[in-house]
Amino acid sequence: MSTLFNNIGCLFTNSQGDSPVSLAARSAENFLGEICDAAIVVEDGKVAWVGESKNSPAADVQIDLAGQTVIPGFVDSHAHLMFAGDRAEEFSARMQGQSYSAGGIKTTVAATREATDAQLEANLARLVAEMHASGITTFETKSGYGLDVETESRSLAIAAKHTSETTFLGAHVVPQEFKDVAKFGSVEAGADAYVDLVKNAMLTAATPHAKWIDVFCDRGAFNVDQAREILQAGISAGLAPRIHANQLENIGAIQLAVELDCASADHCTHLTNQDIDALAHSNTVATLLPGAEFSTRSKYPDARKLIDAGVTVALATDCNPGSSYTSSMAFCIALAVREMRMSPAEALWSATMGGAKALRRNDIGHLSIGARADFAVINAPSYIHLAYRPGVNLISETYIAGRAVTK
Ligand code: NIG
Ligand code: FE
Repeated sequence: MSTLFNNIGCLFTNSQGDSPVSLAARSAENFLGEICDAAIVVEDGKVAWVGESKNSPAADVQIDLAGQTVIPGFVDSHAHLMFAGDRAEEFSARMQGQSYSAGGIKTTVAATREATDAQLEANLARLVAEMHASGITTFETKSGYGLDVETESRSLAIAAKHTSETTFLGAHVVPQEFKDVAKFGSVEAGADAYVDLVKNAMLTAATPHAKWIDVFCDRGAFNVDQAREILQAGISAGLAPRIHANQLENIGAIQLAVELDCASADHCTHLTNQDIDALAHSNTVATLLPGAEFSTRSKYPDARKLIDAGVTVALATDCNPGSSYTSSMAFCIALAVREMRMSPAEALWSATMGGAKALRRNDIGHLSIGARADFAVINAPSYIHLAYRPGVNLISETYIAGRAVTK
Protein backbone atom coordinates (compact mmCIF):
# COMPACT_ATOMS: atom_id res chain seq x y z
CA MET A 1 0.00 0.00 0.00
CA SER A 2 1.30 3.48 -0.87
CA THR A 3 0.63 6.69 1.07
CA LEU A 4 1.03 10.18 -0.34
CA PHE A 5 1.87 12.82 2.28
CA ASN A 6 0.77 15.92 0.49
CA ASN A 7 0.71 19.67 0.98
CA ILE A 8 4.03 19.95 2.81
CA GLY A 9 5.13 23.60 3.21
CA CYS A 10 8.84 22.79 3.01
CA LEU A 11 10.49 19.38 3.16
CA PHE A 12 14.13 18.79 4.10
CA THR A 13 15.52 15.55 2.73
CA ASN A 14 19.26 15.73 3.60
CA SER A 15 19.47 13.95 0.29
CA GLN A 16 22.87 15.30 -0.65
CA GLY A 17 24.25 13.05 2.02
CA ASP A 18 27.54 14.82 2.61
CA SER A 19 28.59 16.90 5.59
CA PRO A 20 27.51 20.55 5.75
CA VAL A 21 31.01 21.91 5.57
CA SER A 22 32.09 20.23 2.37
CA LEU A 23 28.76 20.91 0.73
CA ALA A 24 28.79 24.49 1.92
CA ALA A 25 32.13 24.85 0.17
CA ARG A 26 30.66 23.54 -3.08
CA SER A 27 27.31 25.31 -3.01
CA ALA A 28 26.50 27.64 -0.16
CA GLU A 29 22.85 26.58 -0.17
CA ASN A 30 20.65 23.57 0.20
CA PHE A 31 22.79 20.94 1.88
CA LEU A 32 19.53 20.13 3.65
CA GLY A 33 17.91 19.28 0.31
CA GLU A 34 15.00 21.70 0.72
CA ILE A 35 11.92 21.23 -1.46
CA CYS A 36 8.95 23.58 -0.97
CA ASP A 37 5.30 22.82 -1.84
CA ALA A 38 6.41 19.24 -1.53
CA ALA A 39 5.03 15.75 -1.22
CA ILE A 40 6.43 12.38 -0.29
CA VAL A 41 5.19 8.89 -1.14
CA VAL A 42 5.80 6.01 1.25
CA GLU A 43 5.54 2.38 0.25
CA ASP A 44 6.45 -0.63 2.41
CA GLY A 45 7.81 1.71 5.08
CA LYS A 46 10.28 3.36 2.72
CA VAL A 47 10.43 6.57 0.73
CA ALA A 48 9.22 5.67 -2.78
CA TRP A 49 8.99 9.15 -4.26
CA VAL A 50 9.78 12.70 -3.15
CA GLY A 51 9.38 16.00 -4.98
CA GLU A 52 7.13 18.93 -5.67
CA SER A 53 3.44 18.33 -4.97
CA LYS A 54 2.42 19.26 -8.47
CA ASN A 55 4.37 16.30 -9.86
CA SER A 56 3.29 13.74 -7.29
CA PRO A 57 2.10 10.32 -8.45
CA ALA A 58 -1.19 8.76 -7.37
CA ALA A 59 -1.23 6.68 -4.18
CA ASP A 60 -3.67 4.43 -2.31
CA VAL A 61 -4.05 6.85 0.61
CA GLN A 62 -3.49 10.61 0.93
CA ILE A 63 -2.58 12.52 4.09
CA ASP A 64 -2.78 16.32 3.96
CA LEU A 65 -0.03 17.92 6.05
CA ALA A 66 -1.64 21.36 5.77
CA GLY A 67 1.45 23.32 4.84
CA GLN A 68 3.55 22.14 7.80
CA THR A 69 7.32 21.57 7.65
CA VAL A 70 8.74 18.03 7.34
CA ILE A 71 12.25 16.96 8.41
CA PRO A 72 13.93 13.55 8.67
CA GLY A 73 13.28 12.01 12.08
CA PHE A 74 15.91 12.88 14.66
CA VAL A 75 18.53 10.20 15.25
CA ASP A 76 19.53 10.24 18.90
CA SER A 77 22.87 8.46 18.88
CA HIS A 78 23.66 8.82 22.59
CA ALA A 79 21.30 8.13 25.48
CA HIS A 80 21.32 6.26 28.79
CA LEU A 81 17.75 5.07 29.25
CA MET A 82 18.24 1.89 31.30
CA PHE A 83 17.91 3.19 34.83
CA ALA A 84 15.57 3.63 37.77
CA GLY A 85 15.04 6.61 40.05
CA ASP A 86 16.15 10.18 39.46
CA ARG A 87 18.67 12.68 40.83
CA ALA A 88 16.63 15.84 41.17
CA GLU A 89 18.28 16.66 44.52
CA GLU A 90 21.74 16.38 42.96
CA PHE A 91 20.65 18.71 40.14
CA SER A 92 19.27 21.21 42.61
CA ALA A 93 22.49 21.16 44.67
CA ARG A 94 24.51 21.63 41.49
CA MET A 95 22.49 24.63 40.46
CA GLN A 96 23.33 26.07 43.88
CA GLY A 97 27.06 25.69 43.37
CA GLN A 98 28.11 22.07 43.71
CA SER A 99 30.15 20.75 40.81
CA TYR A 100 29.36 17.69 38.70
CA SER A 101 31.44 14.56 39.11
CA ALA A 102 31.14 11.03 37.78
CA GLY A 103 30.50 9.96 41.39
CA GLY A 104 26.76 10.72 41.20
CA ILE A 105 26.34 7.68 38.96
CA LYS A 106 26.42 5.41 42.03
CA THR A 107 23.04 6.74 43.20
CA THR A 108 21.45 5.56 39.98
CA VAL A 109 23.33 2.26 40.10
CA ALA A 110 21.81 1.47 43.50
CA ALA A 111 18.27 2.23 42.26
CA THR A 112 18.78 0.31 39.01
CA ARG A 113 20.03 -2.84 40.72
CA GLU A 114 16.94 -2.84 42.91
CA ALA A 115 14.49 -2.32 40.06
CA THR A 116 12.59 -5.22 38.52
CA ASP A 117 12.69 -5.86 34.79
CA ALA A 118 9.13 -4.55 34.53
CA GLN A 119 10.11 -1.30 36.25
CA LEU A 120 13.14 -0.83 34.01
CA GLU A 121 11.06 -1.49 30.92
CA ALA A 122 8.27 0.87 32.02
CA ASN A 123 10.81 3.65 32.57
CA LEU A 124 12.32 2.99 29.16
CA ALA A 125 8.89 3.01 27.49
CA ARG A 126 8.05 6.34 29.16
CA LEU A 127 11.25 7.92 27.82
CA VAL A 128 10.79 6.43 24.35
CA ALA A 129 7.29 7.93 24.21
CA GLU A 130 8.80 11.31 25.11
CA MET A 131 11.41 10.87 22.41
CA HIS A 132 8.81 10.05 19.78
CA ALA A 133 6.81 13.10 20.80
CA SER A 134 9.94 15.19 20.33
CA GLY A 135 10.54 13.86 16.79
CA ILE A 136 13.18 11.22 17.56
CA THR A 137 12.69 8.16 15.36
CA THR A 138 15.86 6.18 16.17
CA PHE A 139 17.58 6.10 19.51
CA GLU A 140 20.63 4.42 20.90
CA THR A 141 20.69 3.39 24.53
CA LYS A 142 23.46 2.28 26.78
CA SER A 143 23.54 0.07 29.82
CA GLY A 144 25.93 1.34 32.49
CA TYR A 145 23.78 1.71 35.60
CA GLY A 146 23.99 -1.97 36.54
CA LEU A 147 27.75 -2.47 36.76
CA ASP A 148 27.28 -6.10 37.69
CA VAL A 149 26.90 -9.03 35.32
CA GLU A 150 23.22 -9.61 35.95
CA THR A 151 21.99 -6.02 35.84
CA GLU A 152 24.06 -5.05 32.81
CA SER A 153 22.84 -8.04 30.85
CA ARG A 154 19.17 -7.68 31.80
CA SER A 155 19.31 -3.94 31.04
CA LEU A 156 20.57 -4.71 27.54
CA ALA A 157 18.09 -7.54 26.99
CA ILE A 158 15.22 -5.15 27.80
CA ALA A 159 16.71 -2.38 25.66
CA ALA A 160 17.11 -4.73 22.69
CA LYS A 161 13.32 -5.23 22.63
CA HIS A 162 12.95 -1.51 21.82
CA THR A 163 15.96 -0.60 19.65
CA SER A 164 18.65 -2.27 17.59
CA GLU A 165 21.13 0.38 18.77
CA THR A 166 22.15 -1.09 22.12
CA THR A 167 25.45 -0.30 23.78
CA PHE A 168 27.26 -2.18 26.54
CA LEU A 169 28.66 0.40 28.97
CA GLY A 170 29.82 -1.82 31.83
CA ALA A 171 32.80 0.55 31.94
CA HIS A 172 30.80 3.57 33.07
CA VAL A 173 32.55 3.89 36.45
CA VAL A 174 34.14 1.48 38.93
CA PRO A 175 31.29 0.45 41.28
CA GLN A 176 31.52 0.89 45.06
CA GLU A 177 32.15 -2.77 45.86
CA PHE A 178 35.41 -2.60 43.87
CA LYS A 179 36.61 0.40 45.89
CA ASP A 180 37.13 -1.65 49.04
CA VAL A 181 40.87 -1.14 49.63
CA ALA A 182 40.90 -3.61 52.51
CA LYS A 183 39.70 -6.27 50.09
CA PHE A 184 41.72 -5.42 46.97
CA GLY A 185 44.89 -3.98 48.53
CA SER A 186 44.72 -0.65 46.67
CA VAL A 187 42.37 1.55 44.64
CA GLU A 188 44.24 0.54 41.46
CA ALA A 189 43.93 -3.17 42.20
CA GLY A 190 40.17 -2.79 42.73
CA ALA A 191 39.85 -0.96 39.41
CA ASP A 192 41.94 -3.64 37.66
CA ALA A 193 39.70 -6.36 39.08
CA TYR A 194 36.64 -4.50 37.78
CA VAL A 195 38.17 -4.01 34.31
CA ASP A 196 38.79 -7.75 34.29
CA LEU A 197 35.17 -8.48 35.13
CA VAL A 198 33.95 -6.09 32.39
CA LYS A 199 36.21 -7.68 29.77
CA ASN A 200 35.23 -11.23 30.65
CA ALA A 201 32.03 -12.37 32.39
CA MET A 202 30.15 -9.10 31.92
CA LEU A 203 31.04 -8.80 28.23
CA THR A 204 30.08 -12.42 27.60
CA ALA A 205 26.66 -11.89 29.19
CA ALA A 206 26.12 -8.55 27.42
CA THR A 207 27.23 -9.49 23.92
CA PRO A 208 24.06 -11.30 22.76
CA HIS A 209 22.02 -8.16 23.45
CA ALA A 210 24.45 -5.44 22.32
CA LYS A 211 25.66 -3.97 19.05
CA TRP A 212 28.16 -1.47 20.51
CA ILE A 213 30.68 -1.22 23.31
CA ASP A 214 31.41 2.09 25.04
CA VAL A 215 33.74 3.26 27.82
CA PHE A 216 33.55 6.46 29.88
CA CYS A 217 37.18 7.49 29.32
CA ASP A 218 37.63 10.46 31.60
CA ARG A 219 38.80 11.75 34.96
CA GLY A 220 37.12 9.73 37.70
CA ALA A 221 36.15 6.92 35.32
CA PHE A 222 38.59 4.90 33.12
CA ASN A 223 41.99 5.92 31.77
CA VAL A 224 43.11 5.45 28.18
CA ASP A 225 44.89 2.13 28.78
CA GLN A 226 41.89 0.64 30.58
CA ALA A 227 39.55 1.95 27.88
CA ARG A 228 41.72 0.46 25.13
CA GLU A 229 41.73 -2.96 26.85
CA ILE A 230 37.97 -2.96 27.28
CA LEU A 231 37.14 -1.69 23.80
CA GLN A 232 39.51 -4.21 22.21
CA ALA A 233 37.89 -7.03 24.17
CA GLY A 234 34.51 -5.82 22.90
CA ILE A 235 35.76 -5.64 19.32
CA SER A 236 37.08 -9.21 19.61
CA ALA A 237 33.65 -10.29 20.83
CA GLY A 238 32.03 -8.71 17.74
CA LEU A 239 30.85 -5.38 19.19
CA ALA A 240 31.63 -2.08 17.49
CA PRO A 241 33.34 0.65 19.52
CA ARG A 242 32.21 4.14 20.54
CA ILE A 243 33.52 6.18 23.44
CA HIS A 244 32.72 8.87 26.00
CA ALA A 245 35.70 11.14 25.40
CA ASN A 246 37.01 14.13 27.32
CA GLN A 247 33.80 15.37 28.93
CA LEU A 248 35.44 16.46 32.18
CA GLU A 249 39.09 16.68 31.17
CA ASN A 250 41.36 15.91 28.20
CA ILE A 251 42.94 12.59 29.13
CA GLY A 252 43.74 11.57 25.54
CA ALA A 253 40.49 9.79 24.70
CA ILE A 254 40.15 11.30 21.22
CA GLN A 255 43.41 9.78 20.03
CA LEU A 256 42.18 6.40 21.28
CA ALA A 257 38.84 6.87 19.51
CA VAL A 258 40.63 7.46 16.22
CA GLU A 259 43.15 4.65 16.83
CA LEU A 260 40.31 2.15 17.27
CA ASP A 261 38.11 3.63 14.51
CA CYS A 262 35.29 4.32 16.95
CA ALA A 263 32.07 5.24 15.15
CA SER A 264 31.79 8.21 17.48
CA ALA A 265 33.66 10.12 20.17
CA ASP A 266 31.07 11.65 22.46
CA HIS A 267 31.07 14.86 24.50
CA CYS A 268 34.38 16.25 23.08
CA THR A 269 34.26 19.12 25.54
CA HIS A 270 38.02 19.38 26.05
CA LEU A 271 39.99 19.12 22.80
CA THR A 272 43.42 20.14 21.55
CA ASN A 273 44.05 21.23 17.96
CA GLN A 274 45.67 17.83 17.37
CA ASP A 275 42.49 16.13 18.56
CA ILE A 276 40.43 18.16 16.11
CA ASP A 277 42.86 17.39 13.32
CA ALA A 278 42.79 13.67 14.15
CA LEU A 279 38.97 13.66 14.08
CA ALA A 280 38.90 15.58 10.79
CA HIS A 281 41.05 12.90 9.16
CA SER A 282 39.13 9.94 10.56
CA ASN A 283 35.81 8.13 10.24
CA THR A 284 34.95 9.04 13.81
CA VAL A 285 32.02 11.40 14.32
CA ALA A 286 32.19 13.98 17.11
CA THR A 287 28.90 13.66 18.98
CA LEU A 288 28.14 16.79 20.96
CA LEU A 289 25.77 16.65 23.92
CA PRO A 290 24.89 20.21 24.92
CA GLY A 291 22.20 18.99 27.35
CA ALA A 292 25.08 17.79 29.55
CA GLU A 293 26.80 21.17 29.56
CA PHE A 294 23.48 22.87 30.25
CA SER A 295 22.66 20.61 33.14
CA THR A 296 26.13 20.54 34.66
CA ARG A 297 26.70 24.25 33.99
CA SER A 298 29.93 23.55 32.13
CA LYS A 299 31.72 25.07 29.19
CA TYR A 300 30.20 23.96 25.85
CA PRO A 301 32.34 22.15 23.26
CA ASP A 302 33.68 24.23 20.38
CA ALA A 303 31.33 23.06 17.63
CA ARG A 304 32.32 25.89 15.34
CA LYS A 305 35.97 24.90 15.37
CA LEU A 306 35.09 21.24 14.78
CA ILE A 307 32.80 21.95 11.83
CA ASP A 308 35.18 24.47 10.30
CA ALA A 309 37.98 21.89 10.51
CA GLY A 310 35.84 19.40 8.57
CA VAL A 311 34.85 17.10 11.45
CA THR A 312 31.46 15.37 11.09
CA VAL A 313 29.40 16.52 14.04
CA ALA A 314 26.33 14.81 15.53
CA LEU A 315 24.00 16.20 18.17
CA ALA A 316 22.39 13.87 20.70
CA THR A 317 20.39 14.22 23.92
CA ASP A 318 22.60 12.16 26.30
CA CYS A 319 19.29 11.57 28.08
CA ASN A 320 20.23 10.26 31.56
CA PRO A 321 19.11 10.99 35.11
CA GLY A 322 22.38 12.64 36.15
CA SER A 323 23.96 14.98 33.67
CA SER A 324 21.28 15.58 31.02
CA TYR A 325 17.72 14.61 31.85
CA THR A 326 16.15 15.72 28.58
CA SER A 327 14.60 13.68 25.78
CA SER A 328 14.09 16.74 23.60
CA MET A 329 16.28 16.99 20.51
CA ALA A 330 14.77 20.40 19.77
CA PHE A 331 16.12 21.63 23.10
CA CYS A 332 19.59 20.33 22.16
CA ILE A 333 19.31 22.07 18.79
CA ALA A 334 18.39 25.32 20.52
CA LEU A 335 21.44 24.98 22.79
CA ALA A 336 23.69 24.13 19.84
CA VAL A 337 22.56 27.23 18.01
CA ARG A 338 22.56 29.59 20.99
CA GLU A 339 25.58 28.31 22.91
CA MET A 340 27.76 26.50 20.38
CA ARG A 341 27.37 28.80 17.37
CA MET A 342 26.03 26.17 15.04
CA SER A 343 23.71 27.53 12.37
CA PRO A 344 20.13 26.21 12.61
CA ALA A 345 20.79 24.27 9.39
CA GLU A 346 23.97 22.68 10.74
CA ALA A 347 22.18 21.78 13.96
CA LEU A 348 19.31 20.14 12.06
CA TRP A 349 21.76 18.17 9.91
CA SER A 350 23.76 17.06 12.96
CA ALA A 351 20.64 15.89 14.81
CA THR A 352 19.51 13.79 11.82
CA MET A 353 22.23 12.79 9.34
CA GLY A 354 25.00 13.38 11.87
CA GLY A 355 23.33 10.96 14.30
CA ALA A 356 22.91 8.38 11.53
CA LYS A 357 26.61 8.64 10.72
CA ALA A 358 27.49 8.27 14.40
CA LEU A 359 25.58 4.97 14.29
CA ARG A 360 27.08 4.09 10.88
CA ARG A 361 23.60 3.84 9.38
CA ASN A 362 22.77 4.74 5.77
CA ASP A 363 19.07 3.96 5.87
CA ILE A 364 18.05 6.74 8.27
CA GLY A 365 18.77 10.45 8.83
CA HIS A 366 17.61 11.43 5.35
CA LEU A 367 14.56 11.10 3.10
CA SER A 368 16.08 10.01 -0.19
CA ILE A 369 14.30 7.32 -2.21
CA GLY A 370 14.82 3.97 -0.49
CA ALA A 371 15.42 5.44 2.99
CA ARG A 372 13.24 4.31 5.88
CA ALA A 373 10.29 6.69 5.97
CA ASP A 374 11.12 8.23 9.34
CA PHE A 375 10.10 11.84 9.59
CA ALA A 376 8.82 14.51 11.93
CA VAL A 377 6.19 17.10 11.10
CA ILE A 378 6.84 20.56 12.54
CA ASN A 379 3.85 22.80 13.07
CA ALA A 380 5.80 25.93 12.12
CA PRO A 381 6.80 27.64 8.89
CA SER A 382 10.45 26.58 9.16
CA TYR A 383 12.83 24.22 10.96
CA ILE A 384 14.55 27.36 12.29
CA HIS A 385 11.66 27.59 14.74
CA LEU A 386 13.11 24.56 16.56
CA ALA A 387 15.80 26.88 17.94
CA TYR A 388 13.88 30.13 17.65
CA ARG A 389 11.03 28.88 19.88
CA PRO A 390 12.92 27.11 22.68
CA GLY A 391 10.92 25.08 25.15
CA VAL A 392 7.91 24.73 22.84
CA ASN A 393 7.26 21.29 21.35
CA LEU A 394 6.41 22.12 17.74
CA ILE A 395 6.41 18.48 16.59
CA SER A 396 2.83 17.70 15.64
CA GLU A 397 3.45 14.15 14.43
CA THR A 398 6.28 11.64 14.16
CA TYR A 399 6.31 8.80 11.61
CA ILE A 400 8.51 5.71 11.77
CA ALA A 401 8.60 3.61 8.58
CA GLY A 402 5.62 5.65 7.44
CA ARG A 403 3.49 4.92 10.54
CA ALA A 404 2.41 7.56 13.03
CA VAL A 405 3.86 6.87 16.46
CA THR A 406 2.47 9.86 18.31
CA LYS A 407 -1.29 9.47 17.77
O1 NIG B 1 27.17 10.91 29.34
N1 NIG B 1 29.51 10.89 31.20
C1 NIG B 1 29.13 9.81 31.60
N2 NIG B 1 27.89 9.36 31.61
C2 NIG B 1 26.75 10.20 31.52
C3 NIG B 1 26.34 10.75 32.83
C4 NIG B 1 26.02 9.77 33.77
C5 NIG B 1 25.42 10.26 35.05
O2 NIG B 1 25.78 11.30 35.64
O3 NIG B 1 24.52 9.50 35.47
C6 NIG B 1 26.97 11.30 30.49
O4 NIG B 1 26.91 12.49 30.76
FE1 FE C 1 26.71 9.66 28.08
